[in-house]
Amino acid sequence: MSVDPDTPLAAARFDRAAETYDAWADHHRAIADALFELPKLPAAPLRLLDVGCGTGLVTLRARQRYPQAALTGLDQSPAMLEAYARRFPRAERIAGDVQRVPLPSDLDLIVSSCVFQWLTDYAPTLRRLHAALTPRTGVLAFAEPVDGTLPEFTAACERAGLAGLGLACRPAETCLAALEESGFRTAAAQVRDFPVAYPDARCALRSFSGIGALPGKSALAPGQTRRLMAALSDVCAGRITLTYRVLLVVATPNGSPP
Ligand SMILES: C[S@@+](CC[C@H](N)C(=O)[O-])C[C@H]1O[C@@H](n2cnc3c(N)ncnc32)[C@H](O)[C@@H]1O
Repeated sequence: MSVDPDTPLAAARFDRAAETYDAWADHHRAIADALFELPKLPAAPLRLLDVGCGTGLVTLRARQRYPQAALTGLDQSPAMLEAYARRFPRAERIAGDVQRVPLPSDLDLIVSSCVFQWLTDYAPTLRRLHAALTPRTGVLAFAEPVDGTLPEFTAACERAGLAGLGLACRPAETCLAALEESGFRTAAAQVRDFPVAYPDARCALRSFSGIGALPGKSALAPGQTRRLMAALSDVCAGRITLTYRVLLVVATPNGSPP
């Protein structure tokens, strides 16, 4: 296993969620399924990297479809990577931030689900992934929550006087433009909504910490949490749903990156 010595503090949030992640991740499984239903995926990749692999839900789908592929999981959260190793003891692991950690080369397929929304160096990271793919035949397939995701939560935050707490995501057009500017050609792309129903507002908010995706920069005071739960119940008129809006993409290198 290779290790990035500068793994950022952001990893701590996902470390805390490593044990609870799978129990709260049905929508991540649905998103991973949708990713592997896209057209233009390679027929039989031999070397596959899962970026932000978490506990391995995406690699699980990949292995079902490509049993012959040699697997590598990359994650900046050591606890997530340990969970991944328990699921895939023979897979290679890379510990670190995809924006900086050395990447393998000559990969046939890079997959990533629900990770790119956290990137601060978006286009440079796409160029790094471009360089890691086999020229001409390599494929990048990713799912990324985009602008318009979790509208119920955003509305509830506004109603509770907590505007700005929600997850800020890029517009899908911005992602696709950055992809083209980073030397990729988009082979398939679609935006899909993944609604998730919860028994109550407390459970919906608990799901964020369960998967390590606590929105906002600081913990909420108990009074704020109560206000937010009440607002979410109002917004959803009692039937609590959180809708993830996700861009699903298959892209191939289009010559050398600029
Ligand atoms: C929401 S989880 C998704 C996990 C998995 N891809 C799935 O779909 O189940 C996001 C994962 O990405 C990892 N992650 C976030 N930013 C990262 C970065 N810059 N470099 C490497 N891993 C990152 C987190 O540690 C976490 O395990």
